[in-house]
Amino acid sequence: MEKLVIHGGNRLTGEVEISGAKNAAVAIIPAALLAQDVCRFENIPNISDVITMLRILSSMGAQVRYLNKHTVEIDTKHITSYIVPHEMTRKLRASYYLIGALLGRFNRAKVSLPGGCNFGVRPIDLHIKGFEMLGATVSVENAMINATADYLTGSPIYMDKVSVGATINIMLSAVKARGLTIIENAAKEPHIVDLANFLNAMGADVRGAGTDVIKIHGVQNLHGCTYSIIPDQIEAGTYMVAAAATGGDVLIKNVIPKHLESITAKLQECGVKVEEYDDAVRVVSTGSFRRCNIKTMPHPGFPTDMQPQMSVLLTVANGTSLVSEGVWDNRFRYVDQLIRMGANIQVDGTIAVFQGVSALTGAPVRADDLRAGAAMIIAGLMAHGTTEIENVIYIDRGYEDYVEKLRDLGADIYRKEFTDDTPQSGAVG
Ligand code: UD1
Repeated sequence: MEKLVIHGGNRLTGEVEISGAKNAAVAIIPAALLAQDVCRFENIPNISDVITMLRILSSMGAQVRYLNKHTVEIDTKHITSYIVPHEMTRKLRASYYLIGALLGRFNRAKVSLPGGCNFGVRPIDLHIKGFEMLGATVSVENAMINATADYLTGSPIYMDKVSVGATINIMLSAVKARGLTIIENAAKEPHIVDLANFLNAMGADVRGAGTDVIKIHGVQNLHGCTYSIIPDQIEAGTYMVAAAATGGDVLIKNVIPKHLESITAKLQECGVKVEEYDDAVRVVSTGSFRRCNIKTMPHPGFPTDMQPQMSVLLTVANGTSLVSEGVWDNRFRYVDQLIRMGANIQVDGTIAVFQGVSALTGAPVRADDLRAGAAMIIAGLMAHGTTEIENVIYIDRGYEDYVEKLRDLGADIYRKEFTDDTPQSGAVG
């Protein structure tokens, strides 16, 4: 097993290139199932979640061919099975997109429930309601979701709660349904728009993605295409906070600055300088921060997936900051690790109070999930002394070459082998 060792205190300076978006890639790759054809994806991030999704498609009979590190061709012509067993789905939360995609292609899907529930309860009732509204019969047997229909029929679907996953799954199943589907109170995240653009490039008729009403006119057939995945909003935001936290000066390239507005706004509120360019942002920091409050919300609100990273900055901001988690029930587990590093934080349900301290000190800590792991890295970079982070596999799920990228920026970080018998399990994302 590996852990990360960080000797803190180095300012990050220089340039870093952001990879393709994890959450877009894990939705768009299963969408390739909808066309019995070849799709070529560019700007695919080289991370373990994407590799897992590609392995699942291969195991189902798709031909997956890497043309280079970030370009993949997927031929789904020969897939005949609509069944995805547990051993393939347990590592990847996003494996539930296979339900929508297989339902869209075969009018049938039998997919094992995804594992893991690291932010508290993670229901999929809205996904199921959506499939049922399109005419599918859905049951759960032996931890497998079984969805079947003679054919799917478009329908108005009102989402009781804004859900990224349910919006995506309904889009996947509705593109080939007969007639018009209208998703109301849809999620508006950048990867929803990216998925819609990919579906339209395959010949679908999806309009309104990025607003809270998405209209989908079903089409009979979709065809292959070449598509480039958007840059990763959360990876970019993570490097922005890392640059700020270390008092650094970093140009973050291959980004869409519009997707980063809420993160930029909060950093500026803390006294960090952020300059926007066409496809880059530059973060310049003095290393001293004003307090600020954060409330996470669906897009365009402050992203919950940036909450742990941004909170690390608040551990050393002047004064008291309030962080309110508006998406997940239980997303403050990482706080215990920051307290080990000297932070002063109190959590009450979905609200955490950060009382700024003068500095964090290095300690052995653990990545509780992907973004909590990113937060631990930022904490280690800004802390005095050495931080060792266990459960690195969580971080590998969503950040491409982060050790190399951080080292290029001047961080003192490396991977170290160690032996430990404690089981690591679960999936989030
Ligand atoms: C996606 C992201 C995850 C991010 C989250 C919110 C991926 C692979 N993962 O997760 O990183 O933190 O969006 O931005 O893109 N809910 C229900 N019923 C449902 C579905 C969701 O009540 O059927 C609730 C959830 O419990 C949660 C809220 O809706 O409180 C938002 O969840 P959702 O947007 O669906 O998150 P995911 O798509 O799972």
